[in-house]
Amino acid sequence: MEDWARALFELPGETYLSVLAKIHEALRLKSYLEIGVQNGASLALALEGSYAVGVDPDPKITAPLKAWTQLYKMTSHAFFETYSGPPFDLIFIDGLHRYEAVVEDFCNAEKLCTANSIIMLHDTIPLSAETSTPVCQTSFWTGDVWKIVPAIIRSRPDLTLFTIACPPSGLTIIKGFGSKKGLSASVVREFQNKGYAWVAGQKKAALKIIENHSSQWLPELF
Ligand SMILES: C[S@@+](CC[C@H](N)C(=O)[O-])C[C@H]1O[C@@H](n2cnc3c(N)ncnc32)[C@H](O)[C@@H]1O
Repeated sequence: MEDWARALFELPGETYLSVLAKIHEALRLKSYLEIGVQNGASLALALEGSYAVGVDPDPKITAPLKAWTQLYKMTSHAFFETYSGPPFDLIFIDGLHRYEAVVEDFCNAEKLCTANSIIMLHDTIPLSAETSTPVCQTSFWTGDVWKIVPAIIRSRPDLTLFTIACPPSGLTIIKGFGSKKGLSASVVREFQNKGYAWVAGQKKAALKIIENHSSQWLPELF
């Protein structure tokens, strides 16, 4: 079976875009930050009346944007180094799909969170060893983003985290910010060398996966 078909077979139901649309609708955010916007499919879900910031070194926006949006044509690293504006209610990290990059994005994003902010990570349920390599080798590719989930669970028991089993590759929600910042360097190092074999037989527990039904995850947002 093709990787794409297998991903949709393993994670049935509403896509991550449909889940994101429901999250925007439920939270009615004032401000939204998106790292990695590509053609704007997810950025376009930010609603009219909210302030959205999109960051991508190579954006190709074709989707009609509803929110009042500012686009930063740069890497997330450059953005976080220079941004000095207010914090965000919701931050979606979907940029460079490498563990080290996502760790950096997450730690920087946390600095722009209030106690009520939510961070979402895309591509956190890996499908196979071949499609979750740190360097892209396949047309369907999640990278090794998933490793940040057990790293957060291990080093940040103060945070609430769960992963919605939405196709094609999951969406992790993290909230409860405010007390502590960053991730433990030793835990981040520990997961650096983990491969797909480590997570393959224990995805549900290791990634805190919950069913892809809004009745399951929607109440957990509040
Ligand atoms: C998977 S796409 C984003 C898809 C989009 N969020 C959506 O759901 O429609 C990943 C994007 O991340 C961007 N990207 C790659 N490296 C990046 C970096 N260092 N910082 C920010 N964005 C990056 C790529 O240019 C690409 O457009």
